[in-house]
Formats: sequence, C-alpha cells, structure tokens
Amino acid sequence: MRHEYFIPCAPGLEPILFGEVKALKLPRAEQQVGGVRFTGTVEDAWRANLELRTAVRVLQRLARFPCDNDDELYKQARAIDWSPYVEPDGSFFVDAQVRDSTLTHSQFVAQRTKDAIADWFRKATRRRPSVAKEDADLRVHVHLSKDRATISVDTSGDSLHKRGWRDYQGVAPLGECLAAAMVLEADWNRRAPVVDPFAGSGTLLVEAALLAADIAPGLFRSFGFERWPNHRPAPYRKLHESIAARMRWPSKLRLHARDLEAGHLRGLRRNFEALAQLEVAGAPTADQLERCLHAEAGDALEFPWREGWGALVLSNLPYGVRVGDTEEVEELHRAFGRMLRERCSGYSLALLLGDKRLAHALGLQEWKARELRNGALRCQFVTTRLP
Ligand SMILES: C[S@@+](CC[C@H](N)C(=O)[O-])C[C@H]1O[C@@H](n2cnc3c(N)ncnc32)[C@H](O)[C@@H]1O
Repeated sequence: MRHEYFIPCAPGLEPILFGEVKALKLPRAEQQVGGVRFTGTVEDAWRANLELRTAVRVLQRLARFPCDNDDELYKQARAIDWSPYVEPDGSFFVDAQVRDSTLTHSQFVAQRTKDAIADWFRKATRRRPSVAKEDADLRVHVHLSKDRATISVDTSGDSLHKRGWRDYQGVAPLGECLAAAMVLEADWNRRAPVVDPFAGSGTLLVEAALLAADIAPGLFRSFGFERWPNHRPAPYRKLHESIAARMRWPSKLRLHARDLEAGHLRGLRRNFEALAQLEVAGAPTADQLERCLHAEAGDALEFPWREGWGALVLSNLPYGVRVGDTEEVEELHRAFGRMLRERCSGYSLALLLGDKRLAHALGLQEWKARELRNGALRCQFVTTRLP
C-alpha cells in the first residue's frame, strides 16, 4: 500500500534534500517549498527516516481537505481510522500551524483535532489515549494554509537532527541537518583531509565522518513509527541491519579540529566519544575515531596548513551576532581569507558565513554563494576551490 509523505527541511535546503531523496530512489518525489513530497510504501518511509541527512521529519499525510470552520476540521479528523497509529491506552499530541486562513488560532485547531481523535477512540474502543506533550507515542500535525487543511502523522517522532551522538552543545552549535547539507554540497571526494579551524562542538566534522563512512544518520536512534500498533519490527530490523552493514570506516581519513576555546574542543571530543560508545552495529570504534581526529586548541590563523594537501576547509566562522564582535569578525575574515589564498592552493572551501560582506572580506577570486538559514539567522554558504 502506498501513502503520501512530506519531508520538511530548513528553508533553503530543499534542493539538497531533493537530491538525497532522488539518490534514495524514493518514488514519485517532487520538490516543494519547505520540503519534498513522495508517494511510497511504509518501507520507503523507514528508509527516509534512517538515511536522509537534511530532513527534519517524515510526515505521512492522512487527509487533505478544504477547511474554513472547526466543525469541518472535527468531522474530517473523526473520519480517519486512528487505530494503526496509537493504542487506546497510549498517548498522543497534536500540534498545528495556521497561515492565511479563516481559522486563525493554532491552539484551537490542535484542540479540535485532539477532541476528534479522542472521540473516535471512545466510540470505537470505549477507551481513549491520553494527551502527552513530551514523549507521546504519536505526534499528529495539522497544517492549515489558505483554508486547506492537511492532517499528518509524524513517522519520525523526535526531530531527525537528533542523531544520538551529541553530548556537548557548545555556544553556537550548527544544526546537524545544515552541517550535513554543507558536507553534501562541498567539493570533496570523502577521502581528502577535512579541516574545521573554528570547530566549536564539531558538528561539521562528525557529519563529514558519517558521510565518509557511509553511516546512515538515523541508525542510532528510534523513530515514532516504531511505537505504532501497525509497526512490523522483523522487516524493519532486517532493513536496519542491511543499512548498518554498509559502514566502511575510511582508515586514512583525517579530521582536523581547532578552536580558540579549549573547552569547546573537550566538548567536541565528548561528541566523538559518544559516537563511538553507541554500541550499535554501524558505529565507528573509539580506536578508529582516535586515529582520525586531530583536535588542538589554538587560533585558526595559526593552523599548520600543508602545501599540496588538497584538504577540504569545512567551517562555520564566527558571525559577529552570537559570537564575537562585528569589526573584529570582519578583520578575522580578511586575515583568514589572506591566509587561505597564500597557503592553501588547490584546497576546497565550504564555509558558512554571517553575510555577503563577510564573504567579500575573504577576498576570494571566484566562489559560489547560496543563502541558507541557521535557525533564525540568514547566512551565506560559500563554496570554491582555490586556484
Ligand atoms: C559559529 S562557532 C562554530 C560552531 C560549530 N560549527 C559547531 O557546530 O559547534 C565559531 C567558533 O569559532 C571559535 N573562534 C572564534 N575565533 C576564533 C579564532 N580566531 N580561531 C579559532 N577559533 C575561533 C569560537 O570559539 C566558536 O567556537
């Protein structure tokens, strides 16, 4: 049986997510504003959850209908058979997003949908699941836009950026999905050394390691669908095992981390250690990570670049909004750009910068820039290969 799915992502990442979806051969995929849609089987949704690096979640659409009043919403939500998604003694939570519609209160929309689900269970089973904001067995999303409602169930549960390896946050960590998008878009053969001279908690280097070793980002966590009554654990376990078996640790891979703050680098090491301690098939060992990671506190401007190294410089520089002050940050970009131009011939760059002014401050001859968002901040993602 086929279902319609929508995979939301952060604004600006749609084409990158679409590329991932095509590579996974998810059927009838279509890029849309805010994400990618596909029509496929439950097994396709399992693969999407396990494999996609830039997706926020995977929603399964249950109903889509015109809706300009709450009675219609209630009626349509009550017409859905909810038994495949939550047990009568389980728990659920509804959240709603409302835009340009006659119904304007998202909480009211969520409440009416919740009532409809509870009433459906009362009628069908004489029992009803409880409502739980935290750790619900089922999360239901209602999206109301221009008086069209979509009711979906969240197959992912927790947001997919939670991979299971983050132990240390740091002050301005990059989201895992955005970091993965940068790695996917970088001009990198997945074997050349990777340098993050402003590494913070190490998000970019961890995501680069996962990609280089062909480790699916969802292997180390559980998903919402695993708690649904209709879940089939045996075939899911088989799929999980086959994806985990693909892992090939690139023994020659070298990841170089640097940061002014020794505390961040201790946190970065904790994140790598957490990855090694996952004790799930498909995770790298502590020994493998120890050999590949070189982390040293210090100024990015004093990094010991090597000629002819052909490394990827993958980094998220201080913005001057959350970390560091504007003037100083611009001067840092000028000095960093000068150093790259003088000492890093043939290197590939994939840098997330605060704005266009900071991109120009690097003084590169040619580069490609794309606007991406890091949370609420608009950023420039700059890629190039140095001459
Ligand atoms: C935007 S944060 C990077 C966050 C990182 N991508 C993560 O996911 O956690 C910038 C980092 O640059 C570091 N930093 C600032 N100036 C630096 C310099 N001159 N040399 C090295 N690191 C510096 C800060 O300590 C901070 O951790």
